[in-house]
Amino acid sequence: MWKESFELIDFHTHILAGVDDGAPDIETSLQMLSHLTQQGVDKVVSTSHFYDFADDIGSFVARRDEALYRLERHIKEHDLYLPDIIPAAEVRIYAGMWQEPQLERLCIGDTRNILLEMPYDHWSDWMYSEIYSLIAKGYTPIIAHIERYVDMISTKEIENSLLTLEVMVQCNADFPSLRHERRFVKKLLSQGRIAAIGSDCHNMQSRKPDVSQAFDYISRKFGDECLEYIMKNSLALLI
Ligand SMILES: [Fe+2]
Repeated sequence: MWKESFELIDFHTHILAGVDDGAPDIETSLQMLSHLTQQGVDKVVSTSHFYDFADDIGSFVARRDEALYRLERHIKEHDLYLPDIIPAAEVRIYAGMWQEPQLERLCIGDTRNILLEMPYDHWSDWMYSEIYSLIAKGYTPIIAHIERYVDMISTKEIENSLLTLEVMVQCNADFPSLRHERRFVKKLLSQGRIAAIGSDCHNMQSRKPDVSQAFDYISRKFGDECLEYIMKNSLALLI
């Protein structure tokens, strides 16, 4: 049984209370984590939105870490069995970020791996050079929910531009239920390009922490080894 032979990781979540448009309060955070526990998830990457035009890194990290501290204290005080939480951010790409001295604080845990959100309309040339510069500077960009761009950017452009760079790729767990997106993710799965899967959960109503449909789909269509390969890649991106 695959759930016992390797760790399951939800790589993209908005579980922290009051940091972005994710969980509104600590009760919702706990419900979201509990829902993930029921699906066998061992680790959760907390990826609150970071927008450079609305925030500076210092105040974002202070707000995020305070929310994480309060959540973890509650979990400890009530002796709850919930997934480990790894602090990170979902960073909307912005010009000059590769030169940002504090950028490492937005990376996953203590790594130099950074979850990067691309725009949903047009991808400009500066974005590719930004990603290239990040890589040259020793960062590993992980492109968030790659399949969400297929309606705006052609899959050909994604493949011929973004995916020729040394980036890692994350997909959202709802892809099996979306026809167009599913086709693209299946292609990337067959090429071994998907390194992480995330629920991208924001709450317990419209954007719930559901990962099991994606895990089951991958196991069924590509075999348990494929899911194990992805989860081991995900784990390697956390340390
Ligand atoms: Fe997100």
